[in-house]
Amino acid sequence: MSTLLSVSGAGFTPYEVEVGRGVIAGLGVQIAALTGGRVVVVSDETVAALHGPAVLASLESAGLKPRILTVPPGEASKSFAELERVIDRLLAYELDRKDIIVALGGGVVGDLTGLAAALYMRGIDFVQVPTTLLAQVDSSVGGKTAIDTPRGKNLVGAFHQPRRVTVDIDVLATLPPRQLRSGWAEVLKHGLICDAPFFDWLTDEGAIGATGDAAALERAVIRSVQIKSAIVSEDEREAGRRALLNLGHTFGHALEAELGFDETILTHGEAVALGCAMAFRYSAALGLCSDDQARRAVAGLAAAGLPTSLAEVGDVGAEALVRRMAGDKKAENGRLTLILARGIGEAFVERAVDVASLAEFLRSEGAR
Ligand code: GLY
Repeated sequence: MSTLLSVSGAGFTPYEVEVGRGVIAGLGVQIAALTGGRVVVVSDETVAALHGPAVLASLESAGLKPRILTVPPGEASKSFAELERVIDRLLAYELDRKDIIVALGGGVVGDLTGLAAALYMRGIDFVQVPTTLLAQVDSSVGGKTAIDTPRGKNLVGAFHQPRRVTVDIDVLATLPPRQLRSGWAEVLKHGLICDAPFFDWLTDEGAIGATGDAAALERAVIRSVQIKSAIVSEDEREAGRRALLNLGHTFGHALEAELGFDETILTHGEAVALGCAMAFRYSAALGLCSDDQARRAVAGLAAAGLPTSLAEVGDVGAEALVRRMAGDKKAENGRLTLILARGIGEAFVERAVDVASLAEFLRSEGAR
């Protein structure tokens, strides 16, 4: 049995997100309903070895003749060079706009493939089959696609919504525990943004999801996708409410950048967790939220084994962090925008954060 969630918005064709256990088996039938043409699966070498055979078997059993194209695993594949290589392969396969591309992998594969799909012949359909928890609850839904450049992450991209997202909870069984915890940070983030009872469940009986319990994971993914799709349906282009999904990201991104995007020190999900903890403590320091709410938010993140203090990750400078945060692409007209909170489940967009007060807060957090 699976759950179907729908994502719709003014500017794009509505699509379904299917969440369930073993749903990759039905992927072929779903894709055959979208195209009678050719199918190219883009994956990375690790994921292709684990899940490629099941995906190809499902597509073939539906009468499709898929090809698979792999990129090296890791963030370095979100590059112009890899984008060009993928597009060149699609051209060599003579795909046209009746055909379809499947992104099978985590956020890197989804972002790269989505952008290739946005650009190829001015836009070709694609389907997301996310294989990390982080991609299942965040990057596969909502149509943000991008590559990195030496000047920063996700600086070249497009909004290009998938035609379908197939979320198979069973693929999470092969994820390393640290990767699972990192994805759990984005799940907790959704509760912190707008659903206090969900956050309570995630930090109580649902907490077993962070260590791989499939039933808890399924419930956590379904609620996360509901929250994300409701926000995206309202604000696809991040003119307003979608920015809430960046809770913890401006702090987190600055930390990742200062630490050289070294995933052995800090994964993206860990950076988001630490960023959420900082956003709640900063909100409390500004008198926007109670100390008790901030303490509960931080305790919930820490209980999942996620970092919540700078001391856990290393030595960083307050001014350097502020510069990164102000230079972050989410800053508008030179003013610092941060997602802050009035309590758990009550995040809001603050567009006029005082840079001096932020630097002082970062020093109180232990930054140099
Ligand atoms: N990951 C944040 C968003 O999709 O808007």
